[in-house]
Amino acid sequence: MNATDRPLPAYPPASQERVPRIAVFDSGVGGLTVLAAIHRELPSLDLRFLGDTARLPYGTKSADTVTRYALQASARLMQDGDVEALVVACNTASSCAIPALQQRYAVPVLGVIEPGALAAVAATRTGHVGVIGTERTVDSRAYTHAIAALDPAIQVHARATPLLVSLAEEGWFDHPATEAALRAYLQPWLADPKARQIDTLVLGCTHYPVFAPVLRRLLPELVDHEVALVDSAAAIAQALADQLPAIGGGRGAVELLATDSLERFARVGALFFPMRAATLQLVDL
Ligand code: DGL
Repeated sequence: MNATDRPLPAYPPASQERVPRIAVFDSGVGGLTVLAAIHRELPSLDLRFLGDTARLPYGTKSADTVTRYALQASARLMQDGDVEALVVACNTASSCAIPALQQRYAVPVLGVIEPGALAAVAATRTGHVGVIGTERTVDSRAYTHAIAALDPAIQVHARATPLLVSLAEEGWFDHPATEAALRAYLQPWLADPKARQIDTLVLGCTHYPVFAPVLRRLLPELVDHEVALVDSAAAIAQALADQLPAIGGGRGAVELLATDSLERFARVGALFFPMRAATLQLVDL
């Protein structure tokens, strides 16, 4: 079933009494993969998510613009003063906006790069790690720097694979067009003898966890050995559970904010998150 076939979920009205504890933001619906991982790992937390769908994609924009957008999105999430931690679900924003956010807010600000880097360092045996993500994430070399800070001997091979965002939003998780796009991106890259040595691949974009099954099938064929996948959504959920054990006491309430068409947010978001469990609200930044 693709995105347009899915029925639009119904929503309960937004509740005024809700007390969000953890704020999560992304450039759009893809961050719902991160929200889903956090909700699974820490089901009693109250979560407030903002998807900046009006300004998606962030992945093709400059670091200055992404940082400005990240500050504005965070300001909306933090305005009620009841947030105990801010999670930047977006890999692109995590690659350039964390210092500015940490400077502005006293609460812990967690990005997805460090947890993903940590998981990749733990997983690799060959010392060659691959990263796929948006153009901005790859150009920023954020994963390369984070992995080098943990183990300078590890070589990082990064490849921008921006088309995958649209394929995920189409619901084409394991579709011939997706397999063709992955082959077109990965085959020439992994033909390089150095990149070919990767035994770990970081899924460095919010949308990419949905491609894990097709990647598990394709990668061994392209490199002739098994490749472990690092899901940055699962990695940040684990980091949150490890770093903030005292946070809790919520009711597992999930509040979703979006900056553009709620209809599209609900329809596409349903591919990544059980939307019936959440309230939905349109906001302007
Ligand atoms: N959320 C972005 C990321 O994880 C992908 C979509 C975009 O380009 O905004 O990098």
